[in-house]
Amino acid sequence: MDQPILKVENVHTYYGPLHVLKGVNYDLYKGEIVCLLGGNASGKSTTMKTVLGLVKPTSGQVVFAGERIDRLDTSEIIARGIAVVPEARRIFPRMSVLENLELGAFVRRSDRVGMRSDRDRVLSLFPRLAERRTQLAGTLSGGEQQMLAMGRALMSRPKLLCMDEPSMGLAPQLVEQVFDVIQEINRQGTTIFVVEQNANMALSIAHRGFVLQTGQVVLSGPASELLGTELIRKAYLGETWSPNKQLDNVTKLI
Ligand SMILES: Nc1ncnc2c1ncn2[C@@H]1O[C@H](COP(=O)(O)OP(=O)(O)OP(=O)(O)O)[C@@H](O)[C@H]1O
Ligand SMILES: [Mg+2]
Repeated sequence: MDQPILKVENVHTYYGPLHVLKGVNYDLYKGEIVCLLGGNASGKSTTMKTVLGLVKPTSGQVVFAGERIDRLDTSEIIARGIAVVPEARRIFPRMSVLENLELGAFVRRSDRVGMRSDRDRVLSLFPRLAERRTQLAGTLSGGEQQMLAMGRALMSRPKLLCMDEPSMGLAPQLVEQVFDVIQEINRQGTTIFVVEQNANMALSIAHRGFVLQTGQVVLSGPASELLGTELIRKAYLGETWSPNKQLDNVTKLI
């Protein structure tokens, strides 16, 4: 099998005295959509922030495209090909849709021609943004802001796109649209790592999934096998999962 594009090995992360990630391990392979599931405060956002270098792990390592990145600054990590759509989107409300997209291409600002073709590609992925290209981002609807945050992340031409709860606060119909676009971005060649509480929706588009519980990956497997199983619900509710029926390809890790 190929080398993983992202390898997270035995990562421990603290906020002051609070030990949040307690030996997190997982791999992502090129071309995959992988979802990270888990209940509130299980450490999902911290896992993503650790990959992005926004929080530094105390021990363990993060390897991207064969090189260690856990000691690099976030800007260097982004320049190597990882982009993020953070929790709560964080678009620039007083800038237009197009200006927000241009900021997403900041790491490759010398490539004007490439930027223009990427902008056109993003606008064709998100026709609603194309119609609103000169509108101030703060006046977009929640779903449109989500699309803008995704479009902005794509402007850096990432090899790996990380998304933290893209469905949060969106009406069900919009959630479906956002997940359709995630699949389309993946079909166009970007590896996707998505954190979600909406387990059924995330697993319906993902190839594989991991479940995080109090800072550890407790379950992993093909999305099709994790989908709709009682163990997902139990992991979410924080109950201890004791399998009475072993699924073939799902690994219980603790
Ligand atoms: N900057 C911070 N300083 C101190 N503690 C933090 C900080 N960020 C997160 N935490 C704590 O770390 C734990 C994990 O938080 P994290 O945001 O990673 O969880 P999560 O799984 O993303 O939760 P949610 O589903 O609510 O988004 C929580 O107990 C949280 O209070
Ligand atoms: Mg979170």
